Amino acid sequence: MAERTFYLTTPIYYVNSRPHLGHAGATIMADAMCRYRRLRGDRVYFLTGTDEHGDKIAQAAAAAGVTPQAHADTYATMFQDTWRRLGITNDDFIRTTEPRHRQVVQAILQKLYDAGEIYFGEYGGWYCYGCERFYTEKEIVDGKCPDHQTPLSFIKEKNYFFKMSKYQDWLIKHLEAHPGFIQPERYRNEVLGFLREPLQDLSISRPRARLQWGIPLPFDDQYVTYVWFDALINYVSALGYPDGALYEEFWPHAEHLIGKDILKPHGVYWPTMLKAAGIPLYQRLNVHGYWTIGGGKMSKSIGNVVEAFQLTDKYGHDAFRYFLLREMTFGLDANFSEEAFIGRLNADLANDLGNLVSRATTMIVNFGGGRIPEPGPVMDEDRAVQAALERAVGEVDAAMEDFAFQRALAAVWEFLGAANRYVDTTAPWTLAKDPARRGRLDTVLWTLGESLRCLGILLDPFLPEAAGKIRAGIGSAPPRLGDIAWGRLQPGTAVQKAAALFPRIEVKVSDESKPPAVAGSAPAKIPLDDFAKVDLRVAEVLEAERVAKSKKLLKLTVKVGDETRTLVAGVAEHYEPATLIGRKVVIVANLQPATLMGVESDGMVLAASHEGHLSLVTLDKDLPSGSKVK
Ligand code: MSP
Repeated sequence: MAERTFYLTTPIYYVNSRPHLGHAGATIMADAMCRYRRLRGDRVYFLTGTDEHGDKIAQAAAAAGVTPQAHADTYATMFQDTWRRLGITNDDFIRTTEPRHRQVVQAILQKLYDAGEIYFGEYGGWYCYGCERFYTEKEIVDGKCPDHQTPLSFIKEKNYFFKMSKYQDWLIKHLEAHPGFIQPERYRNEVLGFLREPLQDLSISRPRARLQWGIPLPFDDQYVTYVWFDALINYVSALGYPDGALYEEFWPHAEHLIGKDILKPHGVYWPTMLKAAGIPLYQRLNVHGYWTIGGGKMSKSIGNVVEAFQLTDKYGHDAFRYFLLREMTFGLDANFSEEAFIGRLNADLANDLGNLVSRATTMIVNFGGGRIPEPGPVMDEDRAVQAALERAVGEVDAAMEDFAFQRALAAVWEFLGAANRYVDTTAPWTLAKDPARRGRLDTVLWTLGESLRCLGILLDPFLPEAAGKIRAGIGSAPPRLGDIAWGRLQPGTAVQKAAALFPRIEVKVSDESKPPAVAGSAPAKIPLDDFAKVDLRVAEVLEAERVAKSKKLLKLTVKVGDETRTLVAGVAEHYEPATLIGRKVVIVANLQPATLMGVESDGMVLAASHEGHLSLVTLDKDLPSGSKVK
């Protein structure tokens, strides 16, 4: 893999809200990406920070009875502490009230003014203080801000304007010539959609008489900059634009990570500002969806805030991080619930990962004397583990190219599944009883050791604490992706038993939710003829999507032999739709159809469940769809 240079930014967070789940999710995604790129050997610069000017901040400070600067200081410190506690590896933290930022904003404003890109004029329009921007008639929904659902204010005043409209055609051409400039594609299409309407010039100032808390325009000190003009420039001011060494090295490789609510400022204002100022454009804009709770939007202004740390402190940073990365399909909204979080923690972390690590290290200690043995001859089943790992490494790399954290983790978990099955089928505890099979046992123990060594590297960006513990247990060096090359594990390496990486969370089941006790406990026995009435078949999942307005249901399109049919399965809290595509499941094929949340389900998918943990019934060997199950 060729080494590359990479500059990644998060949005700078408004200091009118304590850090919450939405902020943490974005910062964790950026952190996982930067850790991954460093692991690859890339040169990385990772920026986050706080957005400290504007009406909202001034109002919040006034409400708290402190100066805006004191208010900003308190909140900026809160964000910094939060990221430190979460183990975020940002290289810098920019605050828009810092002199290094103000100077650059003023220099860029002056440059644009001198070039005739900024003029003085009057504008009246509908303004949202939550978004700090005007909305066009087309964007307004029922007279309200489409994002905050709050009434807009009509503001008419003399201000300075940036000639954004003149860049409309240029921006459309740029987007057409660079299809990957904004990803996922739906957001590129959304920006092209904005650009189908005439683009207005951008109001970039506020009269000082109305707003004190901002950066004064260098050419008219009766005005301060408009928030977005100030905020967006952080991405270059932090690098020491125009001639800082960091700017030279990293700006040509800039990528931004943002939430979908701030697409227009980043997809339209920012590229046109850069173009007008003669600054090269960023390389790529990566747009994620929203975390919702109970299906509703969550943000400070909507009043439904979840403190990011209630659950991190309760269940650990790695588990929290894993859930946020695993559960959100990049670009789409995802729902957060403690129940789903515990489900993932128990199933993916305690079971799949924790068990593998603890079983493998325990067996190497018990049957290998705590040292990696010299492997004996290698068989197909050993080679299959290597192949599964190599597939995962390739898929992680491809997924990370698209910020598809969920796909990357699904790929690692495919490998964990293969490694766990390998333990079950090779049964080292049986081999250990037979001295004649020592050579086979040694190969199996070596293969397990090598799997752990590689996992300790591959998991590092996603589960840094757990990956560190895995590496410590197998005495390996600082992680580098290039070291994953299968075969590097040295016989003789000391291995320690790993303590449970992720203890299971026991969920108290209330009495009402327990199945009613049946006299004689087990269900009544049935004759074989009754069972024969149930037509069980193998089905291949072709498509999977969430059922609108349902937390639990997925709509699956499956192939059963030559037939394609639609099923509804109550597995949405346990499986990401994308991870089911291509899987073979078992269905009841002759069930009378039923309509669930408006979708007709023609059959039922089989799954086992236990204490909030659910597992689909699948095949351990590949057989064609339509095969009978009995
Ligand atoms: N200050 C501006 C950004 C300026 S960048 C030059 C801002 N700040 S914010 O604090 O309101 O939001 C920052 C980021 O947090 C946005 O990307 C937003 O999408 C994200 N989130 C806020 N709530 C969120 C969720 N509930 N879910 C996911 N992300 C969310 O906008």
